[in-house]
Amino acid sequence: MERKKVAIPTLQGKKQRGEPITMVTAYDYPGGLAADDAGIDMILVGDSLGMVVLGYDSTVPVTMDEMISHAAAVKRGAKFAFIVGDMPFLSYQADAKEAIRNAGRFLKEAGSDAVKLEGGAEMAETVKAIVDAGIPVMGHIGLTPQSVSKLGGYRVQGKTARAALKLLDDALALEQAGAFSVVLETVPDRVAELVSQRLSIPTIGIGAGVGCDGQVLVFHDLLGYFDRFSPRHNKRYANIRETIVNALSEYRREVEWRAFPTAENSFTIGDDEFEALVHALEEVGERVSSAEGVQA
Ligand code: KIV
Repeated sequence: MERKKVAIPTLQGKKQRGEPITMVTAYDYPGGLAADDAGIDMILVGDSLGMVVLGYDSTVPVTMDEMISHAAAVKRGAKFAFIVGDMPFLSYQADAKEAIRNAGRFLKEAGSDAVKLEGGAEMAETVKAIVDAGIPVMGHIGLTPQSVSKLGGYRVQGKTARAALKLLDDALALEQAGAFSVVLETVPDRVAELVSQRLSIPTIGIGAGVGCDGQVLVFHDLLGYFDRFSPRHNKRYANIRETIVNALSEYRREVEWRAFPTAENSFTIGDDEFEALVHALEEVGERVSSAEGVQA
């Protein structure tokens, strides 16, 4: 069967049929290619870029230009997955016009299919303005890393009945504003399931249990590429970092022992040409030494 690009109706159809939606983050061309080859439905070019690729302590310093450049690279690799560009801190909070302009950059400059932004009911007007401008928006509630200072750290959200009700209100406000999907991050599993059942749009969970309509993980966490920490919600499906460090160490040793490169990795010049080269150099050498003799 011919493979088709994933679109919003594909995702909606999966929710209606109870088929889980798959999503992973990616930040570059090979990541986009790999996610596409694995048949993943959606790619999030997450602002987690700041932590797992750029080495910042949080997602807060990430800029629009950084996001656009990485989102464009992912797009060059991924032809089938639905690509969501993550709006970085302060690219949408100040006012709706700026939010529309920045959201539009993801579509115009990076070829993304949609944008994601963090926040619940307080962001509903902004979400509506972006959607009204023709740009699909994914919401993100629960643990919202851009507000980690306000939340007092990377903690589970919606743990009390009151907090869970607020979470449901936020999800409904985003749906009402026109969001096509909502990420639920680090939320108790039963709360996330209940929210998922009450929304008509798909929920995508990260640390939110199996009752969500889909799941997302951070590329580097899933592959064991980044081992400074592994959040509880993560499952490592590989240990890429160990593979990379082992390969780099072997390369270093082989260079030091002159075991690399071999003839197989080298290029040749014909005997005649090489002899001509040596001869030419000898002549130059003779000229130089006789000139030196004159000067002396
Ligand atoms: O930036 C990111 O990777 C995210 C996911 C954790 C949902 O927002």
